[in-house]
Amino acid sequence: MSVSVKGVEKRYVRRGRETLALSSVDLEIAQGDFVAFVGPSGCGKSTLLNMIAGIIDPSGGQILHEGHVVNGINTRVGYMTQTDSVLPWRTVFENIELPLTFRPHSAAERREKVEAMMKAVDLTGFGNAFPNELSGGMRKRVALAQVLVYEPSTLLMDEPFGALDAQLKLVMQQRLLEIWQQTGKTVVFVTHDLSEAVTLAQRVVVFSGRPGSIKAIEPIDIPYPRDPFKVRFDARFQASYERLWSILAPEIAKGEDL
Ligand SMILES: Nc1ncnc2c1ncn2[C@@H]1O[C@H](COP(=O)(O)OP(=O)(O)OP(=O)(O)O)[C@@H](O)[C@H]1O
Ligand SMILES: [Mg+2]
Repeated sequence: MSVSVKGVEKRYVRRGRETLALSSVDLEIAQGDFVAFVGPSGCGKSTLLNMIAGIIDPSGGQILHEGHVVNGINTRVGYMTQTDSVLPWRTVFENIELPLTFRPHSAAERREKVEAMMKAVDLTGFGNAFPNELSGGMRKRVALAQVLVYEPSTLLMDEPFGALDAQLKLVMQQRLLEIWQQTGKTVVFVTHDLSEAVTLAQRVVVFSGRPGSIKAIEPIDIPYPRDPFKVRFDARFQASYERLWSILAPEIAKGEDL
């Protein structure tokens, strides 16, 4: 199993006030799966990714990654956080190279890996550019290359394409699906966009409003390769979308009463 979440809960205490962010979450994600998380704002999606990445600990239960209990920073996952980690004072090349500088690679090996990665995300020729010279989509591709370059077995992506315009989002989705199919990595992908979840994932996990728990897990029965531009016109896409919306909509409405 790539990721096993067993009876996990998370409480935050801030200024003496306790928030139950997640309660009794159980989830199994096999190696190579593509799973999407959807749910109302504040239901604990980022919290769960942070726990899989080992950045925070569960208050109860356990998370296993590739059979090992996650305890401290999990270096086997690549994590694209909600706010990306592209550094403005470094070039594209230096940004992508950064994670490798913590590993025992020679400069020549690093160059080879970074160049291969720039090619994989269509950034060849932009190695010397600075992030402020890039479009939003290119910047996202730098962030993606930065997590892929050290070859993690699992990718955690927290609303990675949320800020992009609709067309660019489709292009990025297509690239991500290609990378996933070529590499066989496990992908856990958080999104607010139900159509994005249906376009990409094999299974969509729907979280209930706070305290977050899993309300439903829906398989998306559309074969790959999927074309993000065309899949939305598939009757199976529309059926999945409607089913998911009927599960999610009451949770979002509940949140608004708070
Ligand atoms: N460090 C923290 N201290 C206290 N409370 C926190 C902390 N981080 C998150 N929370 C609370 O935990 C709950 C879940 O937060 P989380 O960020 O995981 O939600 P989310 O599902 O990712 O939301 P969004 O869709 O808006 O990104 C929220 O109520 C949030 O306020
Ligand atoms: Mg979040």
